[in-house]
Amino acid sequence: MTTTLTLPIWNTDLELEIFNKITNQHTPHLPKKRLYETKPPQTPEDIEKFYRFRVAGAAHDLFIVQVCAKVIGEIPEPELQLFLSQQIGDDGAHAANTRRRAQEIYGKDPIEDIQKQVEKHWDYMGDLPLRNWQGFLAFELHYEMHIVASLFVNGITSKISDPQSAEFSKNRIKPEEARHRVGVVNWWQSKYDQVSPTKKADLAAQVIEMDEEAQRRRNPYLKKHWQLTQEAIGTDISDLPKIYDAWRREVLAYFLAIPVTKLPPLVSVNE
Ligand SMILES: [Fe+2]
Ligand SMILES: [Fe+2]
Repeated sequence: MTTTLTLPIWNTDLELEIFNKITNQHTPHLPKKRLYETKPPQTPEDIEKFYRFRVAGAAHDLFIVQVCAKVIGEIPEPELQLFLSQQIGDDGAHAANTRRRAQEIYGKDPIEDIQKQVEKHWDYMGDLPLRNWQGFLAFELHYEMHIVASLFVNGITSKISDPQSAEFSKNRIKPEEARHRVGVVNWWQSKYDQVSPTKKADLAAQVIEMDEEAQRRRNPYLKKHWQLTQEAIGTDISDLPKIYDAWRREVLAYFLAIPVTKLPPLVSVNE
């Protein structure tokens, strides 16, 4: 892992370019854009599934808030603290909006159901997000960066959505999440760019080790979550493992500034 690359800036254009490269290679039959309009959930059964899906979404955001709130006092880096205060505010607002919409659609305040799902994230991630800064980076990679390709697939193939949530997502969640990803990239690069080639190789190995541990910890959750997503909003999940694995390799190659072909074999979401 000695070949380092000059990197393009990480932004949503680059994300789309990488996603298209992956789908052209692995799933050429996947449409590039959504082919039909989504509908709101209608039957009580659909509403129930949609509710569980939204609870999972809010739990993802609230877990981020809880982890970042602990880390902001643990890692004394002002630059990181300013970024985390933004991330906590944004992801907290995403969870709050999802909570409100779920309540309006299902007729029940989901906060207890959300917290139950947050506990599951704590259970399977264990001490990893708070173990050291490398563990926290792996957490940010998994909760902000590695999920992006699956969100693209949802955006193209979903059949059910709540129009008000979709509007909030377009205006708030999407631009804010794009900023979170840039924030994670910048924080990491401010460390990685400073160090000698030998130290870079050490850091790269540490990051891969932590990211692999996080992947193993997350695998059962991801499988269940994709199943729920498919049942609740009708997404096509058949090629998701291939797309997810390829996307994660691209993210790590970018972070470590090495060609994707020079990365070692990584744990698959299917393992
Ligand atoms: Fe969020
Ligand atoms: Fe976020």
